[in-house]
Amino acid sequence: MTPNQSGLILGIESSCDETAAAVVRRGTETLSNVVASQISIHSPYGGVVPELASREHLRNIVPVVRAALAEAGIAFRDLDAIAVTVGPGLAGALLVGISYAKSLAYALGKPLIAVNHLEGHIHAVLLEQAQLAVNSDLDALALPALALVVSGGHTHLYLTRRYGESWTYRNVGRTVDDAAGEAFDKVAKLLGLGYPGGPWIDALAPHGNPSAVPFSFSQIKAKAHRRGDPNAIDPASSTLFSFSGIKTAVLRYTQIHEMAANIEARRAALLGNPTIPGALALCDPQTLDLIASFQRAVVDDLRRKTFRAAEHLGAASLLVSGGVAANRELRVRFTAEAADRGLPIAFPSLALSTDNAAMIAAAAWPKFLANDLAPTTLSAEPSLALGR
Ligand code: KG4
Ligand code: ZN
Repeated sequence: MTPNQSGLILGIESSCDETAAAVVRRGTETLSNVVASQISIHSPYGGVVPELASREHLRNIVPVVRAALAEAGIAFRDLDAIAVTVGPGLAGALLVGISYAKSLAYALGKPLIAVNHLEGHIHAVLLEQAQLAVNSDLDALALPALALVVSGGHTHLYLTRRYGESWTYRNVGRTVDDAAGEAFDKVAKLLGLGYPGGPWIDALAPHGNPSAVPFSFSQIKAKAHRRGDPNAIDPASSTLFSFSGIKTAVLRYTQIHEMAANIEARRAALLGNPTIPGALALCDPQTLDLIASFQRAVVDDLRRKTFRAAEHLGAASLLVSGGVAANRELRVRFTAEAADRGLPIAFPSLALSTDNAAMIAAAAWPKFLANDLAPTTLSAEPSLALGR
């Protein structure tokens, strides 16, 4: 960084169904954060349609970047670098952001920085913690921090450390099948609710009894122990999650209790009026109990395993990020247990829980300082992992 640089990084994110751009100064000060959501495009399909996502990113990328610069009150020439999500995500969606970022960097003669989307989710919290520390003299988050990244595509635990300006991540947990957000989305879909499912279940769960349906997660260990399986993981050294069983259990419950007609009626009615009050009026007590029990089971499984891992690994703090970190019950129950244990815990604001580009620009800052720049051959890495 030279003395005439002001540390302004433009972040670009297009890994799934949000086209996002943001300007962040020195990894700590958000000047703008613009997100164009594609929810209305994918909603009728109950999930992200990759081809439609790419097409919408193409439509949105130029206006979203322009809006981010305008909101920040800066021009392209004021930027010091351009950061873009390189993976993991949908190949076609990633390529739109990457191609645009590469062209912009080339045309402006500015450095290009590649950012892992998962590292971005962790920096959503670190960015806001740094902002808090600057504004209120609070200490930054104690390290090492155990980071739970829990979204529609991921349920990962990372032991996160800092060495000078650079960050390292040790992958100490993952899901063996579905991500937690995926379970929220699939269960919402099979109950005839809207897309994405998380916010619907979050809003309806307080109206049901969370102890009504006993769900169990006991089948996970058996899978991990399978003898001779090259993909089997030693559960002693890694935390394993599994969320496909509970989705099947919910489906079985609806079959046994003959809920199909009710579900189809709700699905049809919500197509015309996709609102939470509308959905609440269309859910009988049995459905609300099922929703509440599902959410309680998922949140408790995440909570138990995350705190157990934090203790085992000697983490000094906990951070929870990704779309599912927006869940209210998750925040309440994680916060209560953290208080009981005297463990500092941090969540992103709701705007930075789901996909955004401020987290990408913030994660790029240490790389910019280390001159860790992307090659001109940069391309999408749909299955990119984070850490060892
Ligand atoms: O981080 P994100 O925007 O995209 C991915 O990287 O996947 O996360 C989206 C996921 C979806 O599965 C969505 O249902 C879930 O986050 N989600 C929630 C809530 N808000 C979003 N899950 C539970 N409760 C919520 N309030
Ligand atoms: Zn994400």
